[in-house]
Amino acid sequence: MEYTSQNIVYHDNRVTRADRHQLNQHKSFVLWLTGLSGSGKSTVSVELEKVLHDRGVRSYVIDGDNLRHGLNADLGFKPEDRKENIRRVGEVSKLFVDAGLVVLAAFISPYTEDRENVRNLFEPGEFVEIFVKCPVEVCIKRDPKGLYEKAIRGEITNFTGISAPYEEPVNPELILDTNKNSFHDCINIVVDYLLIKNLI
Ligand code: PPS
Repeated sequence: MEYTSQNIVYHDNRVTRADRHQLNQHKSFVLWLTGLSGSGKSTVSVELEKVLHDRGVRSYVIDGDNLRHGLNADLGFKPEDRKENIRRVGEVSKLFVDAGLVVLAAFISPYTEDRENVRNLFEPGEFVEIFVKCPVEVCIKRDPKGLYEKAIRGEITNFTGISAPYEEPVNPELILDTNKNSFHDCINIVVDYLLIKNLI
């Protein structure tokens, strides 16, 4: 892709990020949930959003299935499309964080390099990578949308975990093992982390 940023001058807002944090009474940051289809990213993110909202934290979930209906409707699942998907999501997350929100971004985001590129958009501590871990065999058994069955039959190509790779995070801030822990426990692990880090 070609980027055309000549003759464009960045200008600052009069309301700063710090002003927004003061108004909201909390910091803004992104919780980036990565993992296989069916690992539990969406379930954790929507439940966590509710818990944060109930605590007075202004939060918002963005996820693959939803963004692919609109902003990213032109993208498929080839490696270059996934890269562009994650690049756009990273930029959207950055805007939301600048606006003072806590973003819960739930995307397979299978490539380490793409996730690191997103991390590099943020200040240290603002990007919390959460590996939603679950063996592919268990995801295949769960198969909530019947996609694994189709992928195994060859009806879906480039399917993560079957016919496309998933690169596990090397050093994520958090690992949620949804095969061993309940969703309730997973949410508590994240909330405890945010409290310890003084993020909420
Ligand atoms: S990615 O890899 O980050 O660009 O994918 P993402 O934007 O998160 O979209 C994943 C959802 O798309 C559906 N789906 C597929 N996933 C993986 N591989 C292939 N080929 C595919 N085709 C469709 C699937 O419902 C994913 O949702 P989740 O919530 O992960 O199950």
